[in-house]
Amino acid sequence: MIKVIFLGFGNVNSSLFNALYKTDKITVKQIYSRNYIKFISPFEHIPFTDDISKIEDADIYIIGIPDDAISSFSESLSFQNRLVVHTSGGAAMNVLSSKNRRGVFYPLQTFSKQRKVDFKNIPICIEAENSKDLELLQNLGKLISGNVVEISSEKRAKLHLAAVFVNNFVNHLYEIGSDILKGENLPFELLQPLIAETASKIESLSPEEAQTGPAKRNDKKTIEKHLHLLANSTHKKLYELFTEQLNQKYGKEL
Ligand SMILES: NC(=O)c1ccc[n+]([C@@H]2O[C@H](COP(=O)([O-])OP(=O)(O)OC[C@H]3O[C@@H](n4cnc5c(N)ncnc54)[C@H](OP(=O)(O)O)[C@@H]3O)[C@@H](O)[C@H]2O)c1
Repeated sequence: MIKVIFLGFGNVNSSLFNALYKTDKITVKQIYSRNYIKFISPFEHIPFTDDISKIEDADIYIIGIPDDAISSFSESLSFQNRLVVHTSGGAAMNVLSSKNRRGVFYPLQTFSKQRKVDFKNIPICIEAENSKDLELLQNLGKLISGNVVEISSEKRAKLHLAAVFVNNFVNHLYEIGSDILKGENLPFELLQPLIAETASKIESLSPEEAQTGPAKRNDKKTIEKHLHLLANSTHKKLYELFTEQLNQKYGKEL
């Protein structure tokens, strides 16, 4: 049995808890959060504390709190020489206090508390200071995912950067699409099959092969029309920037 304690209980740690709790190789020894959490059935028996000095003994401590709080929080833990990991893509392993054995357990996915996710295909990027701890993290990861990879802090920072482009920025583009439709009283659902196919087609085509649209086709008339229709100046700038990028990429003069 691997004894796990969750430190912080936001989007990531609550998702990890739901996935790990189901396996019979894990004991969730305790959950720590600054604010009281009322667990509902069947979790009401899970030990909880909001007192950092009452955190118990465990094999792995998983810190799931905002990146800029990880360092000082890990320093404030009262124990030493135990395996403490964070779940961040962007933070290096060494932001953790060196008084404990450090590691990373980064699930490369977008998590929101309101949504249950299936971890089976989620890459779990791990890192540790010694091979025994790495093996323990590997074993923990394998309980929930078929894709556990060792990745250094430097490479993980780049992976996280790429993830911001394909997730956060793309999601912001959905927001822009939604705003444009709202202005015409059109439902966002009209775009959903297109969004689903855009994501699905890159499973069999490269992003370059999958690209279509007026910028790639060098359709000047449509581009001019779109720029004319855009009322929001920031959206206009983004449209121009993307069009310019695509033009450079596909080598057609606009
Ligand atoms: N969300 C994602 O999609 C995602 C994906 C992969 C990795 N990550 C990484 O996972 C980590 C957690 O992200 P998250 O989205 O789960 O965060 P989150 O939902 O915002 O959760 C934050 C948790 O941290 C606690 N917290 C905030 N500041 C704290 C502090 N100074 N000391 C102690 N606890 C504090 C909050 O407790 P209170 O309720 O008391 O404020 C809450 O339980 C981050 O490192 C993030 O980069 C996030």
